Amino acid sequence: MPENSSVQTILTKSPIKAAQIIKRGGIVAFPTETVYGLGANVFDARAIEKVFEAKRRPNDNPLIAHVGNLEHIKLLVSEINETAEKFIKAFFPAPLTLVLPKAERVPPSATANLPTIGVRMPRNRLALEFLRQCETPLVAPSANLSGKPSPTDWQAVYEDLDGRIDCILQGEATEIGLESTVVDCTSDFPLILRAGAITLEDLQKVVPETQIYRRSKNEQPKSPGLKHRHYSPRAKVILASSKFKVKSSKSKAFIGLSEPAEKIDLVKICASVEDYAHSLFDFFRQCDRRGIEEIFCETVEETGIGLALMDRLKRASDG
Ligand code: TXA
Ligand code: MG
Repeated sequence: MPENSSVQTILTKSPIKAAQIIKRGGIVAFPTETVYGLGANVFDARAIEKVFEAKRRPNDNPLIAHVGNLEHIKLLVSEINETAEKFIKAFFPAPLTLVLPKAERVPPSATANLPTIGVRMPRNRLALEFLRQCETPLVAPSANLSGKPSPTDWQAVYEDLDGRIDCILQGEATEIGLESTVVDCTSDFPLILRAGAITLEDLQKVVPETQIYRRSKNEQPKSPGLKHRHYSPRAKVILASSKFKVKSSKSKAFIGLSEPAEKIDLVKICASVEDYAHSLFDFFRQCDRRGIEEIFCETVEETGIGLALMDRLKRASDG
């Protein structure tokens, strides 16, 4: 799709209608429990190309493949090792992506030429129904323009991608609001490449050797997506405690767990860390719509889902 052309984006609540569009080589945004994804048939190289174009995604950033049943995993990977077997048994369907050696039949563009592929079976019911109707696994990055916060409702997808994709399958707002945990299962011990709702603690209960991947200074990142700027609203994101002092006269917003000490234009107090994670990306988009210039985000303890939340906050505040 050349940059200036526009496609008609169909809005539908029918997973059958949405699946027909996939079968004709189209690209369809759909809800999952984490964030909305932008799906294409994993075996259709032209459809995969359309996904990269629609999102303006750098083509060195690999996509995650989604399956509607466990059998389909075998179509995507050359081997399911013991570690992956344990995680699949313990968690799938789940907000968890496992990186495994890729099967040869998957087009190289799906994984940005990596020899591995991320595989996930979402647990959202509409996602599962849609995937089953498609009768094929789908690659699906988050359904936002590259660099923007991931979409947590269909309206956010519409805001970014109307006229750029064939269809939006309209479901509810997502349950978790942060992207899946990505775990590399190809090393000696499992490595968390991206934190998410399936926590380090959850994973260690199943495979105690699981660790968080920390890149040393000169090493290439294991997950290419990690080097790209992410999750950023237009406003400047500032990490803070609720007792921060306001210095500038710019328009400000605050999101966190406790009431801020200062007077702020737009405030979101969350009931729990889960609620904070759930609200973050939508709050970023609200701030952008209102032209907020600075967003103060209260820091949280880096345990459980707090680790994933702090990861997204740090990346949004960096640069
Ligand atoms: O929750 C999610 O995972 C959502 C929903 C739609 O399922 N998808 C999502 O996709 O967040 P995306 O493309 O926005 O993020 C995928 C992340 C990127 O950081 C990418 O680099 C990493 O997963 N990734 C994908 N395949 C990989 C691979 N083979 N090896 C290492 N990292 C990989
Ligand atoms: Mg993304």
